[in-house]
Amino acid sequence: MLDLIVRNANLPDGRTGIDIAVRGAEIVEVAPAIAAQAALTLDAAGQLVTPPFVDAHFHLDATLTFGMPRVNESGTLLEGIALWGELKPQLTQEAIVERALAYCDWAVAKGLLAIRSHVDTCDPRLLAVEALLHVKQRVKPYVDLQLVAFPQDGVLRSPHGIETLKRALDLGVDVVGGIPHFERTMADGAASVRLLCEEAARRGLRVDMHCDETDDPMSRHIETLAREAQRLGLQGCVNGSHLTSMHSMDNYYVSKLIPLMKEAGVSAVANPLINITIQGRHDTYPKRRGMTRVPELLAAGIEVAFGHDCVMDPWYPLGSGDMLEVAHMGLHVAQMTGVEAMKQCFAAVTSAPARILGLDRYGLAPGCHADFVLLQARDPAEAIRLRATRLAVVRRGRVVARTAPNTATLDLPGRPALTSFMR
Ligand code: FE2
Repeated sequence: MLDLIVRNANLPDGRTGIDIAVRGAEIVEVAPAIAAQAALTLDAAGQLVTPPFVDAHFHLDATLTFGMPRVNESGTLLEGIALWGELKPQLTQEAIVERALAYCDWAVAKGLLAIRSHVDTCDPRLLAVEALLHVKQRVKPYVDLQLVAFPQDGVLRSPHGIETLKRALDLGVDVVGGIPHFERTMADGAASVRLLCEEAARRGLRVDMHCDETDDPMSRHIETLAREAQRLGLQGCVNGSHLTSMHSMDNYYVSKLIPLMKEAGVSAVANPLINITIQGRHDTYPKRRGMTRVPELLAAGIEVAFGHDCVMDPWYPLGSGDMLEVAHMGLHVAQMTGVEAMKQCFAAVTSAPARILGLDRYGLAPGCHADFVLLQARDPAEAIRLRATRLAVVRRGRVVARTAPNTATLDLPGRPALTSFMR
């Protein structure tokens, strides 16, 4: 007797009519027409079941603070950082915990069950670090939260930047972050990359840096990051987040840079909602999109994910924890409208970030955790097009969230009243 069986599901890889059998917290079989009974049956009725959404780049310490103490009027990264600096002295641990937990509730409802969140380590009190380490434990039954030690004000530029970052890692923060383009000079930025990668190598940790989040084509810290990954044997453990300067770089230089990233096993996270909003703010017309070169990175065999980055914070007034909205924007900004390209956009908010985070037993196969989402859509492209309703979210074999199907009731002249599923 099984605990749960999903009947007649479509899977992201294109298989249809598939049953998924669950015992306890684990998937035990994935096949057509499984002949077994279960305590609970979910009829997928030919709709898509996917492994959970994964957000490879977020800021849980800043989320839901929009308007506190004021709004970012210029819309730039720099005003956002200044605004966050104004807010920091007013933060309390309780308020950070409360907002982060509220966001995690939103995430679960949207089938987002793993988040890599940067946490600001420049505050000597390490208030946000302690708050998010607490949140990580609280949400463990339903969200995998991975924390990145992020020196928001620059690890070299900020007084005690390296010391507070090391203290955060000692407390149990999982990943080493950085922000080389915010250091005082290009040389300081490169020095910060070396220093932080060495720290990660010493501790056996992964690296995920905010890197080159600027329209300046001469911001080339990704080159140093890739070279350091090679030098220190960190291949497969290093990620460059944003990489927006690559949008504006010279094509010849990029033709040399992308193969270096591939050789160094460095992955990339673009944050389409934020990149399209924050970059190009100093342009008149034409205004640059600012997102990194996603199709070119993918074509070179580099792992690429789309992250949400911000929801209602000093940098971005919108967002709802919906990774399909993120994929939708990424698809448009990168012009990835081909059939395979749309599947890659879906993978960029599911399987690709799962690999970047190094998630254990992720996927729809025997032996994987019984974590998945039933969507009101038949395939990944339709899921993105509709930002499809999450009909059921399953975590470790338990249904943890349900949403009613999206329907419309039509009452049109000359026609019988009609209730229809939104397609
Ligand atoms: Fe970020």
